[in-house]
Amino acid sequence: MRSTDALNLLYKDVINDDNDLLKKENKWVLHCFYVGVASGRIAQKLGIDSDYAKALGYVHDIGRKISHPRHVPEGYKYMIENGYEKEARSCITHSFINNDINLVAGGGPNTPEKRNFIQNLLDKYGEATIYDNIVQLCDLFCLETGFTTIEHRVLDVYRRKGIYDNSKAHFEATLKLKEKFEKKMKCNLYYLFPEIKKEDILSIQDDYNEIENMLKGNIKRR
Ligand SMILES: [Fe+2]
Repeated sequence: MRSTDALNLLYKDVINDDNDLLKKENKWVLHCFYVGVASGRIAQKLGIDSDYAKALGYVHDIGRKISHPRHVPEGYKYMIENGYEKEARSCITHSFINNDINLVAGGGPNTPEKRNFIQNLLDKYGEATIYDNIVQLCDLFCLETGFTTIEHRVLDVYRRKGIYDNSKAHFEATLKLKEKFEKKMKCNLYYLFPEIKKEDILSIQDDYNEIENMLKGNIKRR
């Protein structure tokens, strides 16, 4: 799948003109756009297929066309229905760091049926590829308004979704994933994204401290 095809599929039946991009209900499309751009940029730095990484980033949340809470399985089905079986994995793996069902924000699949569906696919896909990891990482610093820091984005996600018994492991895995890519790229992740607002960079330590405080607080049951 080329990135132009991925963007066309993302926009299909949702974005017909620029005004549609400004609509509140379509903000998730902009988040997908930024995840695609960020994924392509990291892949380019690593000397791997940046256009393919971009495509996977563009489509990762495509299931939100159908349903927000069920966007992971719906995205997978939508990609397959449109003939993109290989790229359908991005809709599943993007939420689970290193393709581990426990390393997810918000507690993860909340019924045995949903958990089985996801686990079976993660088993099928096996160990995370470099492309899986890139989209997982980019999902954790891309907002609908552009790039930010991991700390800013994760704090925002935890505030919205709450803290669960796997959140500490999720946050640690997030930071490890960032470190892994920084070693591979031989540069700080944020150097690659100079568009990140200065105030977000300056509040990294405060955001980190707030996440740590949240992780010590009340934990929701999964
Ligand atoms: Fe996302």
